[in-house]
Amino acid sequence: MKHFLSIHDVQDLGNLISSGIIAKRNPFADQLLGKNKTIGLLFFNSSLRTRLSTQKAAQNLGLNVLMMNVGQDSWGLELEEGEPGNPIVMNGDKAEHVKEAAAVIGRYCDIIAIRSFAELQDRDKDYAEQVFQQFKKYAGVPIVNLESATRHPLQSLADCITMEEFRTKPRPKVVLTWLPHFKPLPQAVANSFCEWMNHMDVELVVTHPEGYNLAPEFVGNAQVIYDQKKALEGADFVYGKNWSSYEHYGQVLALNESWIMDEAKMALTDNGKFMHCLPVRRNMKVADEVLDGPRSLVIDQAANRVWSAQAVLKEILIGQQEE
Ligand code: CP
Repeated sequence: MKHFLSIHDVQDLGNLISSGIIAKRNPFADQLLGKNKTIGLLFFNSSLRTRLSTQKAAQNLGLNVLMMNVGQDSWGLELEEGEPGNPIVMNGDKAEHVKEAAAVIGRYCDIIAIRSFAELQDRDKDYAEQVFQQFKKYAGVPIVNLESATRHPLQSLADCITMEEFRTKPRPKVVLTWLPHFKPLPQAVANSFCEWMNHMDVELVVTHPEGYNLAPEFVGNAQVIYDQKKALEGADFVYGKNWSSYEHYGQVLALNESWIMDEAKMALTDNGKFMHCLPVRRNMKVADEVLDGPRSLVIDQAANRVWSAQAVLKEILIGQQEE
């Protein structure tokens, strides 16, 4: 593996999931793999799980870790390139161009991992993933996605590992359900979950109020049902997430409070398990009874973030050995 920006960088998903499960059983088996190498973790946005789990995974592999909050600890980065005859004039609040910053960080680090969310103002701009494309172009080292505008692949891999551990059927029914939230949130987790589930042997159903359709390239072969209760019938896994509108980009169209996940809705499932990437707003998106009940896998999912990161970093380090 060279870069890890999406599932398209994964050669064999089954092997990657197995690698995460093996790392969980024996976390320090590959401690020499990252010896004398450095990973840089760059955060343009806040994090709890991604930051700590990726650092732990890197340390399990023997990597040195550098971490920076971009724009707070460092200079604000200009991402625009300009055009021939129309160069970018850096007379605003961005003091450094990504061209230099990425190249310099690439000299300090053997791998660069980045978190940069959607701004939810301009769909084309967000979906172009400029931060990641610019670092890929100028850093000269592998780039890992710690959640971009459109995807959160390390979360999705942890979700796959968790489902592999808890599934009771060869082909489970998996329901991605929209949950209510008053703030506009990106589509990244939902997009990514769909994208990865489309590569798994599952029956995938997506349910949300009208107006919240995800981009078709992420929905793939999933069935879309606008009736949440109907969608939940017989589910083995229920994956809750809020996202703002893709069609009316970045907008909260209505609060739809009735879409909260509670025990009465979970009772419609086939003894289904509840999943959420966290953080979650209790009793806004999900009732306490679900989060604190025996159906909840949210802590297992978060714990598996270490093993998803470790599986990916291991594959990148092996790739570097083979170069
Ligand atoms: N699930 C997840 O990515 O959590 P953080 O935003 O806390 O990293």
